[in-house]
Amino acid sequence: MTHAPVLLAEVMEALAPTPGALMVDATFGGGGYSRAMLEAGARVIAFDRDPDAIARGAALSAAFPDRFTLHQARFSEMLGFVNEPLRGAVFDLGVSSFQFDEPTRGFSFQADADLDMRMEKEGLSAADAVNRLSETALADLIYHYGEDDDSRRIARAIVQARAAKPIARTLELAKIVEDSVGGRKGARTHPATKTFQALRLLVNDELGELARGLSAAEQALAPGGRLVAVSFHSLEDRMVKQFLTARADAQGRGSRYAPDLPPNDPSRRAPSFTLERKRSTAPRDEEIAANPRARSASLRWAVRTDAPAWEAHAAPELAPKTEAEWIKL
Ligand SMILES: C[S@@+](CC[C@H](N)C(=O)[O-])C[C@H]1O[C@@H](n2cnc3c(N)ncnc32)[C@H](O)[C@@H]1O
Repeated sequence: MTHAPVLLAEVMEALAPTPGALMVDATFGGGGYSRAMLEAGARVIAFDRDPDAIARGAALSAAFPDRFTLHQARFSEMLGFVNEPLRGAVFDLGVSSFQFDEPTRGFSFQADADLDMRMEKEGLSAADAVNRLSETALADLIYHYGEDDDSRRIARAIVQARAAKPIARTLELAKIVEDSVGGRKGARTHPATKTFQALRLLVNDELGELARGLSAAEQALAPGGRLVAVSFHSLEDRMVKQFLTARADAQGRGSRYAPDLPPNDPSRRAPSFTLERKRSTAPRDEEIAANPRARSASLRWAVRTDAPAWEAHAAPELAPKTEAEWIKL
């Protein structure tokens, strides 16, 4: 199994690790970013919520015993592990190729497997979601988290299929979705791609985690520290963009759509970040040719100012939106 860290050179340029600097790798995965930061002489605290990723970190722990620690934890919990201000924090979002390519994890419909998708290998699975959510909740989920206009048709087909017997396998679900939308019609991606994305985001509360993780990094970074995020789909990228542009807004309005505030308005907040570059960075053609999975990557980064951190960033108002809420459905 191969694993190529995406946008590695660009991420390192944005992070600018220096000898002795304390950095967080929020998403260890195969450890590509951690290794590069360690090789630049930095100290690294890394996180991954997947026990398999933690096992993969043993070699790096052995090579850099004094400068590297790896925790099995969610990145939203980073403040509990960080005792001094950070010079940098990097988020490489979503699933790793290790997770995607391992059929037993159930993230992909390239292979038949239990419909699982749990990064932590515990809690409720994608099968629980497709078999237990109401038709309306499934349609909302596939519409909001999958951004799929066929959501209602797909939800109806799932509910009809599970009435006969519970949906348990990845290929079973992929076929139900494909049949419900009338096949592939020459589309470049499989019709179940967006449904699988929606389930994965829900099962792992990925957008809630991202909102909390960005806020945690904002609190943990020293003035001048770098916040770097690589996202792979528009929901993540939009959240990172909105988080950084709001906090870098000289007007301190919280939203660029809000009206300008007078200089002495008490609700005006001092920018907690400076955006060096408003646009995102995409991989170069050569990287995409060598690693097609890099295709949809988008890098954004900003530099922490000395202003206080803003209040916690809200997760988007999507329904159902957190693991806790959908368990209650
Ligand atoms: C795209 S991979 C990271 C690849 C890594 N940059 C590398 O070079 O190998 C994303 C990893 O983040 C982990 N992850 C996703 N959400 C997380 C969260 N909220 N907290 C901790 N780890 C998370 C996943 O388990 C996965 O291993």
